[in-house]
Amino acid sequence: MPLRQGARVDRMLRPVHRWIWRDLERRVRKLLCFAEVEADGGRDILRAAEVTPDPLLRRLYLAHAIDELHHADLFRQRGTALLHASFPRSNPLSQASFLGSGDHGLDDLRIEEEPDDSLLAFLHLSEKAAAGRFAIYRDVVQDDPSTSAVFEEILRDEVFHMNYTYTQLARVLPRTYRRRLWSARASRLWKRYLRVAAALAGLMGTLILTIQYFILLPPFAWFAKRAEKREQPGWIPIPRARNESSASQY
Ligand SMILES: [Fe+2]
Ligand SMILES: [Fe+2]
Repeated sequence: MPLRQGARVDRMLRPVHRWIWRDLERRVRKLLCFAEVEADGGRDILRAAEVTPDPLLRRLYLAHAIDELHHADLFRQRGTALLHASFPRSNPLSQASFLGSGDHGLDDLRIEEEPDDSLLAFLHLSEKAAAGRFAIYRDVVQDDPSTSAVFEEILRDEVFHMNYTYTQLARVLPRTYRRRLWSARASRLWKRYLRVAAALAGLMGTLILTIQYFILLPPFAWFAKRAEKREQPGWIPIPRARNESSASQY
């Protein structure tokens, strides 16, 4: 299963996660970035609560949105506390510079245009992925009990979100909910592939331009310098014939 594979990949990457979280600046940046992502997710789910025709889902989405906004507060508070403790002279501007662009889990969806089954399938997969990641992050920041406790608290909510979205998907789509989940998985994988391919294309472009700069430009520079040496210094007299040309305007 792709998600199990994803969790396995995450577990294999645990040393990389540990290395990333070891650096205090990266830790602060990630926490503040998570705060933005959670707040964005909360706003999107709030919108879903407004547009769904299902009263039970409206209540659940509302509780879910409140949880996500609470997560945003927890991440922001912890990130800000670490920022001020470690970089006491930083101001709000430097705090903003800590923010990364983030990967908004719900950016791939247009909430108003998605039916509930599609949103639930997407949310289930996102929450499952988040729960897996946060469990790893909680373990790799054991040296920082406060940050670890934040992940522990949020993880409990993410597991609840993962479970309720699955149960509700099975309720609204009792016959085909498994197929719906598979198609959501395929869509997520495809979008992930497109992101990786776009990043790779950018990298290749940079590499090719760098190679061109170092391989093609030096010969041109050498020819230009050689031509410069052949030039006579100072003023060069213009031939008289050219000065007396009848075709000249002056
Ligand atoms: Fe969350
Ligand atoms: Fe969540």
